[in-house]
This record gives sequence, C-alpha cells and structure tokens, in this order.
Amino acid sequence: MSKNLLEGKRGIIFGALDDKSIAWKVAQVCKNEGATFTLTNAPIALRMGKINDLAAACNTIVIPADATNVEDLENLFKQSIDHLSGKIDFVLHSIGMSPNVRKKQDYTSLNYDWFQKTLDISALSFHKVLQTAFKLDALNEWASVLGLSYIAAQKTFPGYGDMAEAKSTLESIARSFGYHYGIKKKIRINTVSQSPTITTAGSGVSGFDVFYEYADKLSPLGNADAQSCAEFCAALFSDYTKMITMQNLYHDGGFSSMGMSDAIIEMMRE
Ligand code: NAI
Repeated sequence: MSKNLLEGKRGIIFGALDDKSIAWKVAQVCKNEGATFTLTNAPIALRMGKINDLAAACNTIVIPADATNVEDLENLFKQSIDHLSGKIDFVLHSIGMSPNVRKKQDYTSLNYDWFQKTLDISALSFHKVLQTAFKLDALNEWASVLGLSYIAAQKTFPGYGDMAEAKSTLESIARSFGYHYGIKKKIRINTVSQSPTITTAGSGVSGFDVFYEYADKLSPLGNADAQSCAEFCAALFSDYTKMITMQNLYHDGGFSSMGMSDAIIEMMRE
C-alpha cells in the first residue's frame, strides 16, 4: 500500500535497534513511501543490534551517533546532508532509556546520577538534535521532526519510573522549540504519544505485560501497534500535515480519552 507520500524527501531516523523497534518500522514505511534517509544509533547499539540488515534493505548507510553528544550530532547532520545530496526534510527521534527503570530502582529511591542519564538520553537529546540542526541550518522549510512519547507524561504509571519526567520534558521541548522553528524556519515539531508496544525499551518497564493487556482492553480500537505508528509518522512527515506543530498527538486507539470499558468491567468481574 504505497502512495509515494514521501517521494523526494530526505530524512534521518534515530533508534532502530532490531525489527521490533518502532524506528525500524518507520524506516520500512518511509522507504516504501519513496523517501531516502540515513539511519543512526548509539555506537553500543550498533554492535548489539541488527541495524546493518535494515540499512541494506533500505539501500542506505548507518552513521553512529550518541544522541547525547553534540559533536556526534553535528557529524551526523553533515554526513547525512552529504550522503543524501541535500538538506533534511524529516527527523525521527525514537530514543529512550532509563538506568533506574532498567535496574528496577523504585521511584521512591531513585539514583540521581541515573536520573540525569535518563533525562539526558530520553529528553535532552531531543533538544540537542533540534539545536544542532538549527545552528547548522540543516533542515528544509516545512521539514517535520517527531519524538516518540508515552501517556505517562500526563498520568501516573508507577512502573514507568523517571521516564515519566523524561517524557514530560520531551513533550515540552517540542512545544518550546516548535515556536522558534515555526517562526524562523516554517518547520514543525511534534511528539507522538504511542500505545504500549512490545519492543526492547517497552518490555523493560516492570508490569509491562499487564498494562499492555489493560490498555488493549480499555482502548476501543485496541492498542496501536508499531506498524500503524510508523504509518502515522509517515503521514506526519508528509506535506498533508503541514500546519500541525507543537502538538503531542495521541496514537493510542482511544486510550487517552477512556475512563472505563465493558471489557475491563468483565475482566474485573471474572
Ligand atoms: P527500542 O529499544 O527498540 O528503541 C530505543 C532506542 O533508543 C534503541 O535503538 C537504542 O539504541 C536507542 N538509544 C538509547 N540510548 C541512545 C543514545 N544515547 N543515543 C542514541 N540512541 C540511543 O524501543 P522502542 O519501543 O522502539 O522505543 C522507541 C521510542 O518509543 C522511545 O522513545 C520509547 O520511549 C517510545 N515509546 C515506546 C513505547 C513502547 O511501549 N515500546 C510506548 C510509547 C513510546
């Protein structure tokens, strides 16, 4: 089902680790829709993951970059523009990691060095990507930049730990930088708040399997999967969504508007 929605567009996709990654699906959909792009991930992820297989399938290159390192990001933008023979039209920031969540540190006894890492990797990196591209003037007019978020930015999910603060900050950066990008460069910045999705990052959250099922039963359309998230991202990179900016867009099968569903009532009665 290709509509060549992204024909002629050039992008950078962060965060494809393996074929479960949301970014992996986004790359496949963007390729299918006619875009060209570079792939990037942290050097350690390049050793552990399978990103080279994806690069081969998408006929592109992988440029290593730790998204917390501004020098790496400058190099990434410069090399991408060079490889793609032009400035960038879309960027996907699909990056998240919390040492506290990974090491099962309870929210009431967070390790603050790890907390800072969580914020740096999962939120400030979005600002660093945006600021680097802004200074290098690396993006074309009407470019579209997306970060991936989760509803724990608005509501409390205990197992999500300090990632809740990271996602709130991520969404706030999209609004704050969205102003400057809009007014100076006619570029849009948004976050997509995605349903729980079975990936390496997702499955690291404690109780993930239970709240995955709960969200599926509460949402009238069920959980949105990674493929449909990728299709939504492609739509947001396209010229059909030009006037959407500074938004946090729920891609969650209706979850965020629900209080109770018949399926949950039935489940509780069992
Ligand atoms: P994933 O584990 O496949 O992707 C996370 C990526 O972040 C990995 O590729 C990892 O290498 C990369 N990363 C970590 N540290 C980095 C660094 N310093 N520099 C560059 N890259 C780095 O998992 P998933 O689920 O595809 O995650 C993508 C995004 O989607 C994350 O922002 C996540 O929080 C968000 N999200 C995930 C949901 C889920 O249930 N899986 C739900 C809502 C949002």
